[in-house]
Amino acid sequence: MKRFLDLADFERDEVLALLELSRRLEKYPEPHALAGKILGLVFFNPSLRTLASFQAGMARLGGSSFVITPGQGTWQLETRPAVVMDGAAAEHVREGIPVLASYCDALGIRAFAEGKDLPNDLAETAFHAMASLVDKPLINLESAVNHPCQALADWKTMDDLGVPRSGRFVLSWVYHPRALPLAVPAAAAHMAALRGMEVVVLRPDGFALPPEIMERARRAAASSGGSVRETSEREEALAGAHIVYAKEWGATTCYGDVEGDARLRSALTSWCVRSDWFARAAADCRLMHCLPVRRNTAVADEVLDSPRSAVQREAYNRLSVQMAVLYQLLKGL
Ligand code: CP
Repeated sequence: MKRFLDLADFERDEVLALLELSRRLEKYPEPHALAGKILGLVFFNPSLRTLASFQAGMARLGGSSFVITPGQGTWQLETRPAVVMDGAAAEHVREGIPVLASYCDALGIRAFAEGKDLPNDLAETAFHAMASLVDKPLINLESAVNHPCQALADWKTMDDLGVPRSGRFVLSWVYHPRALPLAVPAAAAHMAALRGMEVVVLRPDGFALPPEIMERARRAAASSGGSVRETSEREEALAGAHIVYAKEWGATTCYGDVEGDARLRSALTSWCVRSDWFARAAADCRLMHCLPVRRNTAVADEVLDSPRSAVQREAYNRLSVQMAVLYQLLKGL
């Protein structure tokens, strides 16, 4: 494995092998496996789990890591091509990223969507431009429309909890005061489809996932016996659900239009997951969310603090699945 950028780059069996390796490393630690190896982590956007779990995972495998948050103690990095750099950024990624890659054995990059131009974000233009500058193993720590590390941890979480492979996975839009990126919903829909699940994307009008994201999930479903559909009918979607995967994202009918998005979402504060959402779900239906989550805005205390909540396990599983990714990228190099 040379790069871990997108779960869709891997066959289902390869994903299952990564999950098996993560379980092995969890049970039988290998504290010297990556001795002497260095992981560079570049965060253009904030993080709690991704940052801490990659550093901890690398340390648990005997390696070390450094973290760069451009503009916070380091030069601000310009990402736009062909610009006159007379603003705040002192250095361009065309120099900065190869320099950082030269100091380490593998590099991870987090660069969220700009959230202004949907085709540009769907094409992962900025991330691909940076990836092309890296001649080392590379990890996507969350890009415009992808979060493969979260998806892998979520798959393991469902395996850990015994969620049926063909169970109903309801990816539900939930309220947030402002538009958030499509990376997690896109990755979660694809992951659950590849796992073979009945994926139902539940969202209000105006928040349909882009056709490109739905089509990608449908291709995964076709390869694994799953299915993918969208609805705005909450009761119907939640009936028989095995998983309610809550996630916030921006309006796709007015992508990049901050005021238009705000107008749409202002009427949607009732899209906060509460206990009554589970009334007709499977008895052991679980709540998933990648975190961070706004309590009583996206998900109510009564759900987050109940045995239904799997959010801590999802976050915990980031560590072991990423250790498996690091192991595959770096062991033996
Ligand atoms: N879920 C997730 O990626 O968390 P962070 O943004 O805190 O890394």
